Amino acid sequence: MPDLESSVADLFAPAFAAVAGGPVDPVVRRSQHADFQVDGALPLARTLSRPPRDIARDVIARLGPSELIASATVSGPGFINVTIADAALGRLLAAARSDERLGVAPAGNPETVIVDYSGPNVAKELHVGHLRSTVIGDACARLLSWLGHDVIRANHIGDWGTPFGMLIEHLLDLGEDAAAHELSVGDLDSFYQGARAKFDADPAFAERARQRVVALQSGDATTLRLWRLLVAESEAHFRAVYDTLGTQLADADFVGESFYDPLLGPLVSELDEAGLLRDSDGAKVVFPAGILGRDGEPLPIIIRKRDGGFGYGATDLAAIRHRTQELKATRLLYVVGSPQQRHFELVFQAAREAGWLTAPARAQHIGFGQVLGADGRKLASRAGGAVKLAELLSEAVDRAATIVAEKNPSLGTAQRAAIAHAVGIGAIKYADLSSDRGRDYLFAWDRMLATTGDTAAYLQYTYARIRSIFRRGGAAPSADAAITVVDPAEHALALELLAFPAVIDEVAETLRFHTLTGYLQGLAGAFTAFYDRCPVLRADGGTRASRLALCDLTARVLAQGLDLLGISTPERM
Ligand code: ARG
Repeated sequence: MPDLESSVADLFAPAFAAVAGGPVDPVVRRSQHADFQVDGALPLARTLSRPPRDIARDVIARLGPSELIASATVSGPGFINVTIADAALGRLLAAARSDERLGVAPAGNPETVIVDYSGPNVAKELHVGHLRSTVIGDACARLLSWLGHDVIRANHIGDWGTPFGMLIEHLLDLGEDAAAHELSVGDLDSFYQGARAKFDADPAFAERARQRVVALQSGDATTLRLWRLLVAESEAHFRAVYDTLGTQLADADFVGESFYDPLLGPLVSELDEAGLLRDSDGAKVVFPAGILGRDGEPLPIIIRKRDGGFGYGATDLAAIRHRTQELKATRLLYVVGSPQQRHFELVFQAAREAGWLTAPARAQHIGFGQVLGADGRKLASRAGGAVKLAELLSEAVDRAATIVAEKNPSLGTAQRAAIAHAVGIGAIKYADLSSDRGRDYLFAWDRMLATTGDTAAYLQYTYARIRSIFRRGGAAPSADAAITVVDPAEHALALELLAFPAVIDEVAETLRFHTLTGYLQGLAGAFTAFYDRCPVLRADGGTRASRLALCDLTARVLAQGLDLLGISTPERM
């Protein structure tokens, strides 16, 4: 089923072509003044040297017969205001209802897509800084797989490199059992800081740590066993947070930097054979073409450091090579904070030059801003450190529980807990996804947990309200009820419902989820206006069935939209 906007465009295209004597984009958009506004006459005025209102009138006169359009009139300097026929809306809505995809066509050209997201570092706790990558990345993966792409989720964990020398030595100092205990109670940060403090203060310890790195890199069995222990404890902690968040990262998606280590030697040779490797102060670097620093000098990616260790960029190059050549991915998404924008520019360009990222394969950095506290600075804990994600999530659920208990004291304990979880986690995700990802956003509990306004709770509440209509009426939505659009509020709701496919297509391209949250707000608003004006259960016969069908479709679109954002929709609230 084509979306409404393209159907309008398809109808106008031949009329425009006839007037202009060649193909013209009709330029269709939603409008405040009509259902759609068609702007194509304005840019034609100059080429045809005719007044745009004249052209618009001519286009309307040449429109073929159509059941879609109730009226098309010239307005302002030469816009065409279009109203869609109620009968056509009814038919389109019935078609959307009978489609389990709600009118959204699967991708015409399904691809293998890598979504690289979350990517925490071993022996460091997940902090609020990882929230955005985890939440936005998960939404990308959910959306693209719903569209039929073959999505590979990649958790590029920092599980290799020099810090492991000090971490393993610290582990040995504490004794394996005591260290495992400290780690398993989730205190990764104190363990890391303990190691770091000794490394900085005690030269003998620092020397042991360096030797331990050498042992790790040469595959010493004991060292590897201790390394694995550290990784496993950290992964258990990551897993617990992902489970609370409902993040779709499976254990098999944890493909850390260590995975690429064996590929780095061959990578260096290939870069060398391709003539891309340069010496710089004893280090091996690549200067990707055309990327200059502030001083106008080309910027390097450090492939191999002077001490023989490999750089972060080398691992990312190996990952691209693996992803395009072994996994056959054609779209590579990196959901990583904006401060790494330069890093990815360099890596993508180097990969292109090495021949590992060539059309149709392409890579895109999905950057994002920071989460700020009420003071406008990076969100910090009371003690001044970074906020642990696990604590933030449990606070969200606790706060939501208080609100749910006030709103609906009659619910049983288990049900209340489930709703509090959905609302608390939903609030955190929604606050993140509803702000333009390119910008920073302020983290404010009261605003994000409000049951009115631009929040998840408002959408979840609207969903639950619709479900309660069906409960009260003892009515199951009938699958084949005819939908008759009569009231202007029904007309407005219908337009919102039919806009879903176009919104999904746009977001699949931009991966800017505030477009989707804004759409869902508009839909919930149109539903509320409809429900205030149009009796549903008290209407009779065909009207009741038709309105119940509108309610049902609204609930399904809301639930689907929220599910793509990783937000669940309780049946009651
Ligand atoms: N571990 C990295 C960090 O904490 C993020 C990894 C992002 N993914 C990547 N392929 N580089 O900054």
